[in-house]
Amino acid sequence: MSSDSSSVLVGLCAVLLSLLYFKTTTAPQTHKVAAHNHNSSRYKALRRKNFPPPFPNGWFHVANLPDVQHGKVKSISALGMDLVCFKGSDSGEISILDAHCPHLGAHLGEGGVVVGDHLKCPFHGWEFDTSGNVKKIPYSSSKTIPSKCKTRTHHTRVILDSIWLWHDAEGRPPLYELKEMNDVIKKGLTLRVVKQNTFDQHIAEMCENSADPYHFQTLHGPLPILGLNKVVGCRHTITQKYPDKENNDDMHTCKFTEQMSDLELLGGVISFRKWVPFAAPILDSIFTSVVFEGPGNISFSIRTPLGEMRMFMTNLPLEPFKQYVENHWFAPWYFPTFLVEIFATLSAHALEQDRQVWENKMYRNKMNLVGGDGPFPAFRRYWASHYSKHSNDLGNDLLEW
Ligand code: FES
Ligand SMILES: [Fe+2]
Repeated sequence: MSSDSSSVLVGLCAVLLSLLYFKTTTAPQTHKVAAHNHNSSRYKALRRKNFPPPFPNGWFHVANLPDVQHGKVKSISALGMDLVCFKGSDSGEISILDAHCPHLGAHLGEGGVVVGDHLKCPFHGWEFDTSGNVKKIPYSSSKTIPSKCKTRTHHTRVILDSIWLWHDAEGRPPLYELKEMNDVIKKGLTLRVVKQNTFDQHIAEMCENSADPYHFQTLHGPLPILGLNKVVGCRHTITQKYPDKENNDDMHTCKFTEQMSDLELLGGVISFRKWVPFAAPILDSIFTSVVFEGPGNISFSIRTPLGEMRMFMTNLPLEPFKQYVENHWFAPWYFPTFLVEIFATLSAHALEQDRQVWENKMYRNKMNLVGGDGPFPAFRRYWASHYSKHSNDLGNDLLEW
């Protein structure tokens, strides 16, 4: 070997050795074994012990009309129940029944078909009416249908093409009606945008946000637009009102308002309100008021310079720590849909700002509150009103330890 090629070889070895040296000495020192996982069975069981019961009493949005049109049957697994929803082809009546056939337990939504106003079981063809009574057994030699042979039916409402189910741990009939959507019907607003999402959290979290004005400065301080969130900050002004028995308030509703009072650059050094022409009247013209109707329904009225939009956010507990959230956005006919889409996207991004806290937090029965914290005790009293004697029995079978 010539001296030239041996010096190239020595050089190469030196480069390789130094690469190896830096590779080993600069390797990231991550510890992968004890990573936190909010979906672990241990963590879920711990949360279950601390949080209020997972399935409060109230109205829950479980399906939309297109899910059951043209003879379609919708299987629903939520609130610790297996259910089926169908629409009678003759009467147009919407019905929600317990899913398992009282005969031998087949799931009526998995292969069942709508025949007139009946739902026909896929296994032996028994037919149920919209009240869950057996109306036909195609092969039975006995003339009478056993009277106990029925599947449980649930109270439903259909409002603005969405289907609600009344859930109550005591089996009571509905204790109130949903009223906020009447405004959309009265004003003739039209549905423009629908957004769906799921969160691994307890159903109380989204509502408890209303009692927490300070978190708007921390989590919602950055503008919820990727790229601008690092430079533009928001200031929010929040008010809230929880019902009071002594004032004869509706105990299932509470109210909340939010106004973006300013946009700021450089951590508050430059205020849009002060420095940007027309910023103040534009900021003042956008105002959101929110009404919570029971635990599963949050109704938003968003006042803008172009008119009022309404958004209905519904929370459905699929499991103790899994919520399905659907947002229906309504606007006047002249309101451009792309603008509704922008508001809907910003609002979805704002929820993402909460996600990491919501999905990992524990519940403090005894909170350590200081001056400047929001009216959490009033919120907790409001929230407790959605539970009854047997609420605590629900959902325990859905968690393993
Ligand atoms: S299981 Fe439904 S008819 Fe037999
Ligand atoms: Fe929030």
